[in-house]
Amino acid sequence: MAKPAPRPGILAIAPYVPGRGKLPGHEKILKLASNEGALGPSPKAVEAYRKLAGELHRYPDGDPYDLRQAIGRRHGLAANRIVCGNGSDELIMLIARCYAGPGDEVLHTEHGFLMYPIFARAVGATPVAAPERDYTADVDALLVRVTTRTRILYLANPNNPTGTYLPAPELTRLRAGLPPEVLLVVDAAYAEYIGRNDYSTGQELVDAGGDNTIMLRTFSKIYGMAALRLGWAYVPAEVADVMNRVRNPFNTNAAAQAAGIAALDDVEFIARGKAHNDRWLPWLADEIAALGLKVVPSIGNFVLVEFPRTAKTAAAANEALNRRGITVRPVGAYGLPHHLRITVGLEAENRAVVDGLAAFMRG
Ligand SMILES: Cc1ncc(COP(=O)(O)O)c(C=O)c1O
Repeated sequence: MAKPAPRPGILAIAPYVPGRGKLPGHEKILKLASNEGALGPSPKAVEAYRKLAGELHRYPDGDPYDLRQAIGRRHGLAANRIVCGNGSDELIMLIARCYAGPGDEVLHTEHGFLMYPIFARAVGATPVAAPERDYTADVDALLVRVTTRTRILYLANPNNPTGTYLPAPELTRLRAGLPPEVLLVVDAAYAEYIGRNDYSTGQELVDAGGDNTIMLRTFSKIYGMAALRLGWAYVPAEVADVMNRVRNPFNTNAAAQAAGIAALDDVEFIARGKAHNDRWLPWLADEIAALGLKVVPSIGNFVLVEFPRTAKTAAAANEALNRRGITVRPVGAYGLPHHLRITVGLEAENRAVVDGLAAFMRG
């Protein structure tokens, strides 16, 4: 019998598998599987969230004016060029819906964030992966894959799950080498963790005024608000107009807006999150390397660890950690079946995952 058929490309999507928050037989788990902020949410955000309880019958501000003003103030940006979304995931999707479709190509790096190829397929476009060098985006490999069909290039800087980044001059060279009609989306989800002076969020490229570059940011990482789903994009004015025509009218909820505004004011909390990561990211990388495992140099709040192909495999390590009630992220879906991604947690969590890996390697 005839039946409804999904649009071409959709059945080619392997559904996204998030980090595990539950393990059978473990009432409480130690989750280092989703790059969530180690310190939890800002107390100011929690207070703003609680205050909203009596207002749940009200629609949120569909614009959302106050939030965009607050982001604009904190980052020195024009609020009318900020578009907010239900997590930056939604913005990645919205950009794909607005700028790509059947017959078009969407470029990303070999181990780029998975939502790029997923959303490309969802809109009927063809994702094109450019090889990386040492787990790092390769500008020349990207540029050589640009065709007349290329509409969007998504680049996470730093990338998840590799943790590597393109220094600012390379990012500039990438933009300069792309045709002006190709939209470059720099996804700076981990920007607040980074203090290096050769790091760029892509903001200057948006400001350079080519009308073809977007910077994406999120409240899910250092802000510790992943549950509320809040991301934002800094875009050329014309792109804002396009995205605002297509997005859902109330795509950011009232709790996310209120908590987001409060969190933006909590500068001390963000500084603490960064200081914590500055202390524990190198510790985690060094301790894991001391076990004889390869660790990809990361500037995010996570490390990518390579395991041997036999005996002490990534799959076996994952199981061993799970038995201890610890979840980390298998990254086979990223074409990295011999790696695990481990998020920086609190001190006790970092020590627990290293102890678990040490016992596994000894065992
Ligand atoms: C590079 C990158 N972009 C976007 C996201 C999605 O974040 P959000 O929670 O804002 O949707 C993530 C989350 O892991 C990420 O690593």
